[in-house]
Amino acid sequence: MSDGYTLDRFARHPFYQEVNRRLVALTGLHRGQCVVDLGAGTGAVTRLLVEQVACPEAEVIAVEPSGSALEAARRNLENIQDAVVRFVQGSADRLSQFVKKPVDAIFFCNAIHLVQEKEQVLKEIQRTLRRDGTFSFNTSFYEGAEPPEAEQFYRKWMVKALRALKSGYGVMPDRTRVEARHRLTEAEYIQLLEDNGFRMQVQSVD
Ligand SMILES: C[S@@+](CC[C@H](N)C(=O)[O-])C[C@H]1O[C@@H](n2cnc3c(N)ncnc32)[C@H](O)[C@@H]1O
Repeated sequence: MSDGYTLDRFARHPFYQEVNRRLVALTGLHRGQCVVDLGAGTGAVTRLLVEQVACPEAEVIAVEPSGSALEAARRNLENIQDAVVRFVQGSADRLSQFVKKPVDAIFFCNAIHLVQEKEQVLKEIQRTLRRDGTFSFNTSFYEGAEPPEAEQFYRKWMVKALRALKSGYGVMPDRTRVEARHRLTEAEYIQLLEDNGFRMQVQSVD
């Protein structure tokens, strides 16, 4: 992720807050728990997690590979007092190296589609979760996310966005390196989870 990081503004949007809030509510956290926010970005989900577990014993660990995003998260959460928030720069595929004690819950919001080595990440999540801990993730980048009648609109919208990025900012994605283009179906995600020792508890499509 480059230093020209621009997620912050988007992450403040009410609809973005709402989908993440819903995932957190579905998980059912408790006060005092220790929770990892994987791929924490600029801390939008970290804040939601703090709200749920807040008390002096609670800990939320924000893990994020981008230094600039992590700095923004640190700034955005500097006033938090009702839980310990730890910021760790690192990638999900090495999670157990940064988080050494078993945690109650791990969240990976709006990011799993960016990861090529999903199996490796799931193994790391298993290593880091306590027995019967929960792993929650969401993504809108999966095969079938758009209804067939909206696919053409989606494709045109992508082309328009790419043109705007090129003309306005001189940037072009390297198509061979854009992992989010390799989209899994819901069934493939479930299979991947089950193959790696997870048991599905709640699945929600909005
Ligand atoms: C769209 S942002 C979502 C940020 C935050 N979870 C949220 O929902 O606001 C995706 C984040 O995933 C992070 N990311 C990408 N690859 C990652 C990896 N291998 N391990 C952990 N995080 C990763 C990116 O740096 C980025 O901050």
